[in-house]
Amino acid sequence: MTHSLTILGIESSCDDSAAAVLRGTSGAADVLSSVVEGQTSLHAAFGGVVPEIAARAHAERLDGCVKQALAQAGLTLPDLDAIAVTAGPGLIGGVMSGVALAKGLSAGSGKPLIGVNHLAGHALTPRLTDGAQFPYLMLLVSGGHCQFLLVRGPADFTRLGGTIDDAPGEAFDKTARLLGLPQPGGPSVEAEAATGLASRFRLPRPLLDRAGCDLSFSGLKTALLRTRDNLVAEKGGLTRQDRADLCAGFQAAVADVLAEKARRAMALYMESAPQTPTLAVAGGVAANQAIRACLETVSAEFGAQCLTPPLDLCTDNAAMIAYAGLELFEAGQQDDLTLVARPRWPLDSASPAMLGSGKKGAKA
Ligand code: KG4
Ligand code: ZN
Repeated sequence: MTHSLTILGIESSCDDSAAAVLRGTSGAADVLSSVVEGQTSLHAAFGGVVPEIAARAHAERLDGCVKQALAQAGLTLPDLDAIAVTAGPGLIGGVMSGVALAKGLSAGSGKPLIGVNHLAGHALTPRLTDGAQFPYLMLLVSGGHCQFLLVRGPADFTRLGGTIDDAPGEAFDKTARLLGLPQPGGPSVEAEAATGLASRFRLPRPLLDRAGCDLSFSGLKTALLRTRDNLVAEKGGLTRQDRADLCAGFQAAVADVLAEKARRAMALYMESAPQTPTLAVAGGVAANQAIRACLETVSAEFGAQCLTPPLDLCTDNAAMIAYAGLELFEAGQQDDLTLVARPRWPLDSASPAMLGSGKKGAKA
């Protein structure tokens, strides 16, 4: 039996300063504490994450998050087996804050240091929450990420496709901005869509006519802008119903695109003859009920289970970094003080680099 490990995780790649402590083994670990300090209010006036503000906030807050996480777990540094930290991809100033803190803690305590890819943290979360068996198909869908990953092991990922421009969460946020709805846009657009008629405006389903699993959302956003402007030009403004119908149409288009591309990714994944066919979904957009329902339908078509981790572990957090660190440490990976922050760090170095960079940083 594998020896139980206690790991501290640190995350600072975007606009959440986070620390967590986790104990256990791969596929069977408990989150002892998970502290996440968001920065939404710091960036609210600017309509997006400002990298310099984010970096400063991480530098000021991360050590407090670590202290809190250790205190909530009832542990001190000597109780740890290792320190895992997000070393990329993300906004470089924030990642550097986390890496510098982790190096300091490691040097001071003599505990091993493990640099974790933020995307690996997301991609391995279904093993932490549901003990998902390798290989599984992962859809990462948030404000900064959108990709299908074939996950075969803690450091074995194949990207089957991803967005060539915006991430869906980003598109939800922009849609909300265009319609005067509050941020973050996902929940407000979803709430408006509940009373809207999706079929009133026929918005495009970008890239469905192209083979493969790549996705695009910027054309959809432009189509929404044009439809809104036409309505305003015709009637002098938008009614509540116009807004709801636009939200419903937009959400249905995103759901259709994600479902069809998930279908193609599932078909590729099923060729690996998995014992427990699984489609796992993570990222803030996984909170959307309509999108979730479409992905559940697609999984069922293939006789696969659909796993959506609880939202606090789906969105950015440090427990996922601690967990990925645990799997890597078990597999013998360890870094030293030469660890550097990497703004871009594709999980799958064999796949061509992706285009574009979301408002929340590089998509890798
Ligand atoms: O994973 P996350 O918290 O942060 C990163 O982007 O890394 O995802 C946040 C994104 C935002 O763009 C937000 O608008 C979107 O997830 N989101 C949603 C919903 N809840 C959050 N999008 C659609 N429907 C939702 N219910
Ligand atoms: Zn993330």
